[in-house]
Amino acid sequence: MTGGAGYIGSHVAHDLIKAGADVTIFDDLSTGYESFVPTGATLVKANLNDTAKLKVAMAGAYGVIHLAAYKYASESVTHPLENHESNVVGTFNLLKVMQELGVNNLIFSSSAGVYGSLEKLPATEESACEPESPYASSKLMGEMMIKEVVAAKNPKAPLQAISLRYFNVVGSSYPHLSDKSPFSLFSIIMNKFKNGETPLITGKDFPTPDGTPIRDYIHVGDISSAHVLAAQYMEETPAGYEVLNLSTGTGISVLEVMNEFKKQLGDSFTFDYTGRRPGDPTASYGDATKAKKLLGWHAKENLSSMVSSVIASQESKA
Ligand SMILES: NC(=O)c1ccc[n+]([C@@H]2O[C@H](COP(=O)([O-])OP(=O)(O)OC[C@H]3O[C@@H](n4cnc5c(N)ncnc54)[C@H](O)[C@@H]3O)[C@@H](O)[C@H]2O)c1
Repeated sequence: MTGGAGYIGSHVAHDLIKAGADVTIFDDLSTGYESFVPTGATLVKANLNDTAKLKVAMAGAYGVIHLAAYKYASESVTHPLENHESNVVGTFNLLKVMQELGVNNLIFSSSAGVYGSLEKLPATEESACEPESPYASSKLMGEMMIKEVVAAKNPKAPLQAISLRYFNVVGSSYPHLSDKSPFSLFSIIMNKFKNGETPLITGKDFPTPDGTPIRDYIHVGDISSAHVLAAQYMEETPAGYEVLNLSTGTGISVLEVMNEFKKQLGDSFTFDYTGRRPGDPTASYGDATKAKKLLGWHAKENLSSMVSSVIASQESKA
């Protein structure tokens, strides 16, 4: 797998090892950590642009779960080429080496960002895709490349693939594996609380029931289990090419998130409001009926367990 030393990838790696898989992690540690790599997995420290190392790492592999990416949508706007080098060229290199070696099974980390700001919610896999950042468009380009390689039905290396469109991934299943992103709401809240600062809700005049934006927050453990099920599905069923939303199906408002932190952290936790961020969509949530139908998967965790796992993860570092 690629990106297995990162936040989500390390959860997937731990769960794959638990399920009895042999796991090799290809990761340049640009945003990942050696300490996130589970015991029993082999780490190859390299960038996706190093195709020689990719070939060595991938020799004899049954399939690839491709999570490595530059994942900061807001930064990608000012660094489009760095973003595309990692996410588009990186995925291209991976596909080329897979084809050369005859590695025919791929699970790809895509993002709900491919939809952009939809008027009609929930987003389904049939909804129009209008990415609004280089990051989101690189995920859509990745999906398109993969779909085209599957459609080409190369007789020597017929690829089958599943692209998983994650919504807003939060929480921790293993306390030492936390999201260190400076842009994720749950990390921002915890970091501010830890530093004695007040977390802020950006905007309270959105056309939502409580005036704050709505997102489909989903526990990383649920995201991870979908990868294990997708890998098992591909072993048993010719998958062709499939795109699946990984979402809870219901949105949670930022105010609800803050209130849950307050409930769990007590009166020492306070929050406040500031103005909207430019371009922040009002609401985003996805329909995951297809993942349920195909993989028998659905999200099991809830807001309370997402928040408690983030607090436990923070406490494990204290
Ligand atoms: N976190 C979310 O809410 C979210 C939502 C939708 C999609 N995704 C996607 O999920 C995947 C994992 O995200 P994450 O939150 O775990 O991010 P992360 O930054 O924690 O993990 C990415 C990992 O990939 C590695 N990496 C990055 N570029 C690389 C390259 N060119 N070559 C080799 N290794 C490289 C990093 O070192 C890191 O370990 C990404 O593809 C991301 O786009 C994440």
